[in-house]
Amino acid sequence: MYGGYKYIEESYEPKKDEFKLLVWVKGKKRFEELAEGVAAESSVGTWTKISTMNKKVFKDYRARIYRIKKVSESSGFVWISYPYEHFDERNLLQFYASVFGNVYGLKELEELYMIDLYIPLRYQRLYDGPKFGLEGIRRIVGTHKTRRPHVGTIVKPKVGLTPAEFAKVAYDAWVNGLDLVKDDENLVNQKFCGWKERFDKTNQARDKAETKTGEVKLYATNITDMDRHKMYERIDYVAESGNKLVMMDVFIMGFALVKEMVEYAHKKGLAVHAHRAGYAALHRSGFGYDFRILSKFYRLLGVDQLHIGTGVGKMEGNPYYIKKLHDVMVKEELEEEKFLGFFKQEWDEDIKAVFPVASGGLDAGKVEGIVAVHGKDVVIQAGGGVHGHPKGSKAGAKSMRQAVEAVARNIALDVAAKQAKELKQALEYFGYIRKEEVERKIKEIKESSSLLEEMVYDKGLNFLVALRD
Ligand code: 3PG
Repeated sequence: MYGGYKYIEESYEPKKDEFKLLVWVKGKKRFEELAEGVAAESSVGTWTKISTMNKKVFKDYRARIYRIKKVSESSGFVWISYPYEHFDERNLLQFYASVFGNVYGLKELEELYMIDLYIPLRYQRLYDGPKFGLEGIRRIVGTHKTRRPHVGTIVKPKVGLTPAEFAKVAYDAWVNGLDLVKDDENLVNQKFCGWKERFDKTNQARDKAETKTGEVKLYATNITDMDRHKMYERIDYVAESGNKLVMMDVFIMGFALVKEMVEYAHKKGLAVHAHRAGYAALHRSGFGYDFRILSKFYRLLGVDQLHIGTGVGKMEGNPYYIKKLHDVMVKEELEEEKFLGFFKQEWDEDIKAVFPVASGGLDAGKVEGIVAVHGKDVVIQAGGGVHGHPKGSKAGAKSMRQAVEAVARNIALDVAAKQAKELKQALEYFGYIRKEEVERKIKEIKESSSLLEEMVYDKGLNFLVALRD
């Protein structure tokens, strides 16, 4: 009981239109009471009995705890279902305020972490999904037949270069084999590198690089701004330029602005590259929710390519977990993974696949490992791995393209390096992670799944977090 009402109903079978949420709770009261507090506060209830509650409200709109798994007297896993009618259609902010809202502030809670969310097809149909996505961007670049990974760089230093310096780095990257050049998440319109001047110079460099190489080149220009009018202006400007991509810091922008800007970019014929900077604040501690949930929302909101981690680079996330995030982006149906708490999830047929982006701490020596995690449908990006190459950015770009061409033909990188000087230098300098090594790790994690289920229940969230690291 919480606030005078009972939310635990273990005999309940969630209906096909209902949302399902798996939550880890830990706190200062009995586990059952903590669990019911979360269900109440995220649906119809509050801390006390209320005279305004009626049977219809309680029956039709409340959350139901349909399964619990106690780990200790005051911690455990809670499976909650929410009726479709509880939510305001086409308004993800209302969904957020319900499910990811007040609950995080309840003072009796010491940990509250949402592990996965099942989103019913009926709700998915309210969203458009990507306009281009994986296949659309492959068609723009012309790799829909070869199916090789896309490869790009983030211009470094992250901030500080002038527009002319930036454009020169971009040109060198494109003509030496890269498909994509990207602004960093913290570069938009600073005084030393105004957005318009940078865009103009870099876009001219892009045109020149296309002419020189005969390949289509993309520039993910960061248009993120507090002022939505500036974002509209930048989209209009890019739409006239021949470049087909804009970049947004989607987590920082928030769902409403992402929806608005993705729709506008699509209307103007532009694809959207989504950087997830900031997400980890909600993901790495006892309070928050898993990026798996956010990635489902971003697919619904229609971003065309999304950063989802690497499994082998500098950002958190083990290879198996990142592989599963890749599935969220590209598959039509996700299998249930009980030991990780992942729901079975099908996608509506109109919601296209997103092109997954692996970025953060990559270099040519990790390209084989990336393909072991993501397969070949991936955009591989390296900042430090290109501009930190011992022979400079041009050699760094070449080494990345050489590595991608090798994996596209299933040739081991050390074999390919015999004919590719820059790749050889990269392997010597950065090291080499073999595909077999990463595949072995993925297999180990997967095969210990029944064991893991016990361990998850014994150790709770900390184990899940450890698993990712
Ligand atoms: C990104 O935008 O993902 C990072 O800036 C990547 O930079 P890095 O390749 O140098 O880690």
